[in-house]
Amino acid sequence: MPYATNFDSTWCKQVSNSLLAWFAANRRDLPWRVHYRPYEVLVSEVMLQQTQMQRVVFYFTRFMTRFPTLQDLAQADLDEVLELWQGLGYYRRAKNLHSLARKIMADYDGKIPSSCETLQTLPGIGPYTAAAIAAIAFEAPCVGLDANVLRVLARLFDCEEDVSTTVGKKIMEDLALKLLPQGRACEYQQALMELGALICGRSPRCRQCPWETSCLSHAHGTVSQRPVKAQAVSRLVRYQMAGLVFDTQKRLLLCRQPDTGIWANLLTLPDCEATQDKLSCGHYQAFLAKKTGLLGKAQNWHLTLKHSYTKWQIFLQVWAYIVPQAKVSAPFVWVEPADFSRIPMPSPHRTALQRYLDNFSENIV
Ligand code: ADE
Repeated sequence: MPYATNFDSTWCKQVSNSLLAWFAANRRDLPWRVHYRPYEVLVSEVMLQQTQMQRVVFYFTRFMTRFPTLQDLAQADLDEVLELWQGLGYYRRAKNLHSLARKIMADYDGKIPSSCETLQTLPGIGPYTAAAIAAIAFEAPCVGLDANVLRVLARLFDCEEDVSTTVGKKIMEDLALKLLPQGRACEYQQALMELGALICGRSPRCRQCPWETSCLSHAHGTVSQRPVKAQAVSRLVRYQMAGLVFDTQKRLLLCRQPDTGIWANLLTLPDCEATQDKLSCGHYQAFLAKKTGLLGKAQNWHLTLKHSYTKWQIFLQVWAYIVPQAKVSAPFVWVEPADFSRIPMPSPHRTALQRYLDNFSENIV
């Protein structure tokens, strides 16, 4: 039998009680675990999508200082929100959070909806985040299944199904709901997440687990095989080039990204696609001339950064150029050196600029 579904209510109570007791004794103090205000829960859940906890703590605290209420966020300029998001990555989340705040002010009288179904209709809120917000902020009887929670449940129930599939997730959701203690969705949701983060990780610490004696995969000796892995997809390689194009006044040329794409609305270094054999100073110069009319004189500096994004493994080669002062038109803009640090820029471009400035700051500031 791949998984059992006939767990009786005594077993379920015992399992959820031991989890909640463990959580009460071991939970980390986090800034969004103080008041459980819906706005704080919402911002923290959005930030925690695809980002590590320690990083989020800093960004969350700063964000709350600048935008203490949903109304403050709704009234802010998108650029300011993006600026505070700089370094967290996946900037679409910031854009969505900003539109979500405006939508809630306009359509819901400024009150964050409490139902999982309504939450899912808001920008950037998928089924997992909606369920987590509804459970944590409103005690709604639902469970958000992120990777940590899925791993914990797949092990507890020794699930042979791939839990990243729709079928696998549905099985896990039904079982998670069976364990959900009435009226304690907030604690339960976080306890599952916390157990996944602190105990039931890739190298599980079963001796310290409150479920050591309940866990079916522990009993069956299959912990290391759970959750069942989907076929690994190998990343697709892409080559890109970007330029640090300064004019003789030391202003930097940037490009305002459109409303869509991975770097929507950010200012980026002007960049272009390349192939491995085209990665050269000349390839970029030709691109720059075609797009802006600027003729760049290459400096004796370049670097190659490797970063990944969803299915892509990206090799980004960056060269530095000096060009004469000239007007440029949208989407290109010149940015003064004094503004470099506050421009919302994607991480790899920020890294390239920083490395350049670390070497040549006397040329610029
Ligand atoms: N991961 C996502 N949301 C979380 C939360 N509220 N607590 C701990 N880990 C999380």
